Amino acid sequence: MKYKGRFGDYGGFYVPEVLIPVLEELEEAFYRFYEDAQFVAELAQLSRDYSGRPSPLYHAKRFSEHVGFEVYLKREDLLHGGAHKVNNSLGQGLLAKYMHKTKLIAETGAGQHGLATAMIGALFGMETKIFMGVTDIERQSVNVHKMRLCGAQVVPIEGGTGTLKDAINDALRYWTAHVTDTFYLFGSACGPHPYPTIVKHFQSCIGKEARQQCIEQIGRLPEMVVACVGGGSNAIGIFSGFVEDKDVRLVGVEAGGVGVGRGLHAATLVAGRVGILHGAKAYLLQDEQGQVCETESVSAGLDYPSVGPEHCLLKDTGRAEYVAAEDDDVLDAFGLLTRTEGILPALESSHALAWLVSQKGKLDPGTVAVVNLSGRGDKDVSIVEERRPLAE
Ligand SMILES: Cc1ncc(COP(=O)(O)O)c(C=O)c1O
Repeated sequence: MKYKGRFGDYGGFYVPEVLIPVLEELEEAFYRFYEDAQFVAELAQLSRDYSGRPSPLYHAKRFSEHVGFEVYLKREDLLHGGAHKVNNSLGQGLLAKYMHKTKLIAETGAGQHGLATAMIGALFGMETKIFMGVTDIERQSVNVHKMRLCGAQVVPIEGGTGTLKDAINDALRYWTAHVTDTFYLFGSACGPHPYPTIVKHFQSCIGKEARQQCIEQIGRLPEMVVACVGGGSNAIGIFSGFVEDKDVRLVGVEAGGVGVGRGLHAATLVAGRVGILHGAKAYLLQDEQGQVCETESVSAGLDYPSVGPEHCLLKDTGRAEYVAAEDDDVLDAFGLLTRTEGILPALESSHALAWLVSQKGKLDPGTVAVVNLSGRGDKDVSIVEERRPLAE
């Protein structure tokens, strides 16, 4: 186990002793079931009938006209729950069922992973607790209400900045005391081994479908694939379908907040240094003393100071590039997609759109860009209303 779960030097599992056998049990169960015929068939049936897979690849023609090249949206926003998060929650929830666990816990930032886990808890009849920072509870209250309606308990976390990092701290602490019957349904492709591998596996359907859809609908592969990066799950999910296609540019867009130069942001790969947080070695936003920095972003789902280990390796090898989009440009991109296509993107996904808008005039008009529209923006309407009030 010691050398497993490494992506170059990144990843690993830096956890308290008590969690080591639990993570080993999880790893063993994952490798036992992920190719098991019954597990695969049950996951495929639920992915289709419950989640709504495959998600469409949509040519956003009016948005394309605006940016001057061809933009296709991978519509994860159309899935049940409104985001890609259900892919992973369904996969891990099924794994928990096969492991005979009766309780689920999860952390959440934007509430999309919390909601997806609350839905799966209801689906499988499992008691579910969601850890969520108080700042996020306030700004994503619609999702909090939905989680409670599904029967989940939402545990408010007061510590730190009341955001995703603090929710993960408390969920891990809780798990160490409740390992026997509780499955920690981790929400992104980060954290200790085996989570980055498990989450990537359950999100890789995005990339597989998108690649196939490009061939069927466009007749070729795109020039680039773009996705927002928080912990990194939707990005690694879509990148995984194209990583072997060396001519396809992979672009991950992080939260630039009010500006990387001004220090208030969550752009880990753009501005971080290697460190250890939440059980894994990865790029990390830290000060000179190695203290984890407070992050700030308009989107709760990207407001996180670390990132998945595989993205760190993709950055170092140059296979993927990572950039940051600032809050104001993200809000503009939200407005642009809404007005040109009638599609409200999540503020997280709007980061990927904002970077595309910044490429206006820089790319050949024949360029095809596939964007992972990781979620829908219903949860963000009040934030947008506050930051960009509509004229009467
Ligand atoms: C819609 C949406 N997209 C993206 C993310 C970021 O997570 P990840 O980087 O794991 O895809 C979140 C997180 O909550 C989200 O809700």
